[in-house]
Amino acid sequence: MKNVNDRVILKHFVSVERLSNQEVMKLIRRSEAFKRGVSWQPEKAQFFAANLFFENSTRTHTSFETAERKLGLEVLSFDTSSSSVQKGETLYDTILTLSALGTDVCVIRHSEESFYQPLIDSKTIKTHIINGGDGSGQHPSQCLLDLMTIYEEFGNFDSLKVAIVGDIIHSRVAKSNMQMLRRLGAEVYFSGPEEWFSKEFLAYGTYMPIDEVVQTVDVIMMLRVQHERHHDGKQLFSKETYHQKYGLTKERANLMKESAIIMHPAPVNRDVELASELVEAKQSRIVTQMTNGVYARMAILEAVLTDFIL
Ligand code: CP
Repeated sequence: MKNVNDRVILKHFVSVERLSNQEVMKLIRRSEAFKRGVSWQPEKAQFFAANLFFENSTRTHTSFETAERKLGLEVLSFDTSSSSVQKGETLYDTILTLSALGTDVCVIRHSEESFYQPLIDSKTIKTHIINGGDGSGQHPSQCLLDLMTIYEEFGNFDSLKVAIVGDIIHSRVAKSNMQMLRRLGAEVYFSGPEEWFSKEFLAYGTYMPIDEVVQTVDVIMMLRVQHERHHDGKQLFSKETYHQKYGLTKERANLMKESAIIMHPAPVNRDVELASELVEAKQSRIVTQMTNGVYARMAILEAVLTDFIL
């Protein structure tokens, strides 16, 4: 048995509820170590990773692949549009097959909430499962990179005021972040349209109008309007109306505290959730979030593969 006191060892990485605060802090510190250039030297010579994205992605898919290559994993090419999924193969059978072929870790994004449950309950599937986003459920790797970005900026979460603003009800990022931020001691605030808010979120924080929230918080996390999850097809707001009523306009950004930062998981609907020029503004950490995504995902991959080699 190796000395792994400073490491997190996980079988799967599927939702933030399954992580203790201590594990999250260790993963953040390990992400920071990878960012400083620390390398991973596993004893097993060869690991195989597959990335299965049944929903579109730029950041999560490419940063997991970058993280895998930086760790020296063999990345299998898997294209959902040309696989046997198109012949009706179920997700379970696809992963059963990859596991039988010796794939060590599968990163999966899927529209179905908790798609991972039958996979991690299976006695036959041996591959480690990482959730790259399950419908409107959770986005735990985005949560880790967001926490890393906040920790890098402020050095703690205790009493930090963090706002989550926008299409909260459809956002898996929001659900992962509100739970973990609250657990780590941050004060969570919500803002945005009532139609995209649910009273159950009040267990984690306080609702506040956008003009108050911008002056109150240390971190303002703007969320993408998730048109693809508005199944009733109704457009509640024009882009301009949404921006003026709920968005981070330049005028609102001028009211933020000097030390406050702007975050957004991206992709950004420019001039909807926030003014286009704020994406790369001095107080924005949106590009840093993307960069940190690679290091956070290296820490996640290491945590699940370390379980494998012990
Ligand atoms: N933030 C995020 O999940 O981006 P992608 O959809 O591009 O992966």
